[in-house]
Amino acid sequence: MLEAVRQAPSWANTQCWRMLVVRDIATKAQISELSYVESFFTPKGYKANPSQKALAEAPVVIVLCADPVDSGTLWGQNYYLVDTGIASQNLMLAAWGMGLGTVFVGVYDEEKIKALLDIPSSVRNRRPFPHWLFRRGKKGRADTKPLAEICFEGKWGRQMTKPVK
Ligand SMILES: Cc1cc2nc3c(=O)[nH]c(=O)nc-3n(C[C@H](O)[C@H](O)[C@H](O)COP(=O)(O)O)c2cc1C
Repeated sequence: MLEAVRQAPSWANTQCWRMLVVRDIATKAQISELSYVESFFTPKGYKANPSQKALAEAPVVIVLCADPVDSGTLWGQNYYLVDTGIASQNLMLAAWGMGLGTVFVGVYDEEKIKALLDIPSSVRNRRPFPHWLFRRGKKGRADTKPLAEICFEGKWGRQMTKPVK
């Protein structure tokens, strides 16, 4: 999985990602605690981050970070977000190929996670972040949007001419 991140493409080949592999039980418990951000979840009526229990119980949490300055910008785009997004998906697909599941956790207290893990202040771990791993289940996802809703033919909004499932 780590190798799959290493091999990911990146804007100008900056390879801006850095990974922290967390196996220590106490640290995973603290990461789990810090994934509940009251100001985000309380207005939504959530008493926990849905992944909070999983973060504490996962065998491994991988914290994927990047330095936005290393990565750079183009026309207002922060490429570290693109690059770490691609790298995350590489990681998750590699895990899936090995029979492991993951969840991407995007809500947590960035400053406190940084302090906990000695992440330098210039580095963002806002996105993407801890993953937790578990044995892959057999069930596929039931809530994916139909292809016809997310894929157009030639022009924005035009229905696919061939049937899509
Ligand atoms: C950018 C991003 C941030 C996410 N943040 C959280 C999170 O903080 N807590 C959580 O439980 N799930 C989080 N998720 C997981 C999604 O909710 C999940 O992938 C989606 O519901 C589909 O479920 P599945 O991955 O189990 O198929 C995040 C996913 C992404 C891509």
